[in-house]
Amino acid sequence: MPKPKIFVTRSIPKPGLDRLEEVFEVHINASDKAIERNALLEAVQDVDALLCLLTDSIDKELIDAAGRLKCVSNFAVGYNNVDVAYASAKNIVVCNTPGVLTESTADLAWALLMACARRVVEADHYLRDGLFTGWEPLLFLGNDVFGKTLGIIGMGRIGQAVARRAEGFGMKILWHGPRPERDDLPAAYQWTDLQTLCQESDYISIHAPLTSENHHLLGEKELAWMKASAILINTARGPIVDELALIKALQNREIAAAGLDVFEQEPAVPQALMDLPNVVLLPHIGSASIETRNKMALMAAENAIAVIQGKEPPARLN
Ligand code: DGY
Repeated sequence: MPKPKIFVTRSIPKPGLDRLEEVFEVHINASDKAIERNALLEAVQDVDALLCLLTDSIDKELIDAAGRLKCVSNFAVGYNNVDVAYASAKNIVVCNTPGVLTESTADLAWALLMACARRVVEADHYLRDGLFTGWEPLLFLGNDVFGKTLGIIGMGRIGQAVARRAEGFGMKILWHGPRPERDDLPAAYQWTDLQTLCQESDYISIHAPLTSENHHLLGEKELAWMKASAILINTARGPIVDELALIKALQNREIAAAGLDVFEQEPAVPQALMDLPNVVLLPHIGSASIETRNKMALMAAENAIAVIQGKEPPARLN
């Protein structure tokens, strides 16, 4: 019996590829670049499964081009790049990689929070530029973290992991999300409406999925609610924040700083953002640890294998 065929849109860590090889005839985008749209449309024509990235748009056109497709295995927890409803209508199972990247992403949110609070990147550049001439009482004064208030938008797995770390810093935790009644959260975590969270938090960290409801959830009005000393962290998805409004708020010092791992039009990052000293910018590396990417690769492989073998996959979305 010939093996089923899978197309992998870009090389992923070896443990995942090795596992796929056991079951599939594996075809991979040979270049180590995001695959061109036309090449992707052609590559999916005769495959049974697709292992794709958050940079691949799995929309109606693509699904229609893939007549044999039974599974879309997304190498990410976020799945705003996949038209899940249309896939469901075509009996295609869609899977993602939740859980395995929770702690790494929470770590990175904290790395950004600390870097912004204590102006780590700015100070590093200053030193490398040869400007450090000795200890100064007023050099790079930042903001304390211990004992401050952290507002978390989206209290799913990653939001909770960020909150757990905040407990070590003696922080008060406010959170906002669509389901205020939650018996799985410590009583000390306080749900608030978005306005209260913006007004009362010293640090705000976004951990919500990108949906049509929360596109530009934080715009001009919400940024204006924030304290002038507030620091905004986004490791979720860029379009949750109105990037132009954020740039304006940072330029006018309406908020103090932002730490961003995600952007509205990735990989494009507005020059105005790059020109600001009070931002830390990262190239979407929230889950980028060796261990986590290996686990994501294995999970994405197991998802595709289970679907093809008629079993329940580890993380099915539809
Ligand atoms: C995700 O999984 O959604 C991240 O953005 C990449 O790991």
